[in-house]
Parts: sequence; structure tokens; C-alpha cells
Amino acid sequence: MEVPPPQVLTLPMVVPSKTLMGPGPSNCPPSVLQSLSLPVLGHLHPECTKIMDDIKAGIQYVFQTKNELTLAVSASGHAGMEAVLCNLIEPGDRVLIAVNGIWGERANIMATRYGATVHRLEAALGTNFSLTEFEDAIRQHKPVLLFVVQGESSTGIYQPLEGLGLICHKYNCLLVVDTVASLGGVPFYADRWGVDAVYTGSQKVLGAPPGITPISFSPKAKERIFTRKTPIKVYYWDMTILGDYWACFGRPRVYHHTISATLLYGLREGLSLVAKEGMENVINRHRMCMERLHKGIRALGLEFLVNKESARLPTVTAIKVPDNIDWMVVTGYAMKHYFLEISGGLGPTANKIFRIGIMGYNATNDNIDFVLKVLEEGINHAKEISNSKL
Ligand code: GLV
Repeated sequence: MEVPPPQVLTLPMVVPSKTLMGPGPSNCPPSVLQSLSLPVLGHLHPECTKIMDDIKAGIQYVFQTKNELTLAVSASGHAGMEAVLCNLIEPGDRVLIAVNGIWGERANIMATRYGATVHRLEAALGTNFSLTEFEDAIRQHKPVLLFVVQGESSTGIYQPLEGLGLICHKYNCLLVVDTVASLGGVPFYADRWGVDAVYTGSQKVLGAPPGITPISFSPKAKERIFTRKTPIKVYYWDMTILGDYWACFGRPRVYHHTISATLLYGLREGLSLVAKEGMENVINRHRMCMERLHKGIRALGLEFLVNKESARLPTVTAIKVPDNIDWMVVTGYAMKHYFLEISGGLGPTANKIFRIGIMGYNATNDNIDFVLKVLEEGINHAKEISNSKL
């Protein structure tokens, strides 16, 4: 062998047990972890395709949709954005992207790469958009699609969506919603709200590992995909063939790629736990945890990035880093002493905020009390360090 076996691989793998209270991934529930050690099945074995059917029903439930083109793509939540934009955009299309954090910025980059003419509707960090702002921008730009993030994890802002589908459809525009960080933390009704394409993260409220992403397209979006004038640019995201692998069109299954059976088990188990608890109860549990967390944050004298209380996302809370302390000392303290993940900002909020996630299995009162105690200790520790430098 010209390249010798790496010595590191002769040593055991180190995987500590941490409490993940950032914006995701969250800790997998024990039954999800157990499911991940089941034997691998072939990607067309009947037992495997039965699990895919179960997952499809679970995704239809969590998105509240009857869309037949509903499946999970084999990649992380961010790939949901890529897959939706890749399928719905043709070169030269006008698209409208609501930008109030990193995910709108990313959608802008992707849509541009697919040849779209991108118009941006912008809001300040920590604020959301009104229906009037959306309608004015749609009327002005006449886009083929509007891209909106329901829960911007980089700022902790929640975007209400009721009424938006009606506005979009009035102007013949498809409504695309990113629910990666929000689904299960706030209500979401794809069909009732007229959402044409939606995706979410497996590794947040659903409690599965990252790497497999629920996604769904309305009949109108499906029609757009099937009547494109140009081929879908990326074969891997092509819903016209991936949909056949997931038996979405009433035709025999056709091989598209070798899906990770292991990730299917994890996602099925995560969806099964949500189905057993009931989506309303899951959402309620997240809201109650958020209220407990926010009460504690106010008691610590800390400030939220999102001023408007009703616009705060239950799953991700953004807290301004107090003046004169180093945020990394706080997050480092939490990790070093407690194996607890508290995150910093992301993209435009980097260095400005802490982000605390309340997601899925981690949404418990005990975890909220734990994170508040460690946050307080960490901030006091960072204050001592910055005072000692004066
Ligand atoms: C990932 O979703 C993040 O917000 O950091």
C-alpha cells in the first residue's frame, strides 16, 4: 500500500454524551438511537419500502398535507432548500426571496445559481414581514415563487404565514416555505395555508439524526415541475424520478439512489414519537418550555434580539450578548463544564447573540432550568474574566 492505514483508526472512536441546546441538531430520543442500530436493508426490499410509505404518511401528518409528492431527500435540511429551488426554478424566472437572516441569503445564492432573477424583500434582523409587504412586493416583481422562512434560526424570528398562500395564488406565484427550525414548535398547515413547497429538518423537533429531509410539493408545484421547459439541473434532486422511487405517482418504484436504510429507521421512529404524542401536544410542550426559558432570561436581566414577544420563535431563542463579555467564553464554559451546547449567532448575527434551542426530546422543564443555570454561571465567569483585564 502506498498509503498506510491511519493509526488513528486503530483507536476507539470518542463520542461524548452532550446536551444539545443549540439550534440543532437536538438529542435523539433513546428509541431513535436504538432504531439506528437495526440491520441495514436493501433500498428496494419490501420491508424498506414499507418504512418509506410509513414515513411518507408521517411527513404528510407533520406538514398537514395530502400532497402525493411527499418524501424525504437523502441529505441534511439545507438540501431541502436546494431541492425545492432546483425543481421549481428555470433560468430567467423571477423569484422573490424574503431575507431577514442567513436562510434567505442562502436561498438568494441558490436561486441565482439556478439562473433566477432574484428580487429581495428585506426586513431588519429580528423582525418579520407583514402580509401587505409581501403583497406589494409580489405585485411589483411578479415572481413565479416566493421563498419565506417560517423560523429564522439565525435570529429567532417567527414568520406568520396565514393568508400568504391566498395572496401568492392571486398573482400566480408559488409559496415556498422553509420550516427547518420551526416545524413542531409552531403550527403549520401546508394545505390550509396554501403552501406549494415545504421542507423541514429531521434533526430538530423530529428528533432523528441529520441527513434525511422531509419535503412536500403541492399539486400546483408538481405541475410546474412536470411542465418545465428545461431539464431539472441536478439529477439527484429531480423530483420526477425521485418521486417514482418514493411511489408518489402511482407507478412502480424505480431505483434512483441507494437510500440510507439506517436514516429511514431514525426518521420513522422520530415521526412515530410525534404521531403518538400528537402534533398539538408537541407544539404546546415547546411553547410552555419557551415561556419558562423566556421568564428565566428576563430574570437574568438579558435582552432578546426579537423585541416583539409574539414574534419569538419557540424553538430558537436569540439573546443579545451583554456588553463587554466574550460570548465564546460563555459557550466554552457550558461545553467544558457541562457538555452543554449553547450556540453563538450565525451569519449576520455572528458574535452578537447566543442561541438557545428547544427542540424535540430536549424540550423539557429540566433542560430549561439546566440551560438557564449554566448560562448564568457562564456569563458570570465571562464577566470575571473581562473585569480582570481592566
Ligand atoms: C442551523 O440550523 C443553525 O441555525 O445553526
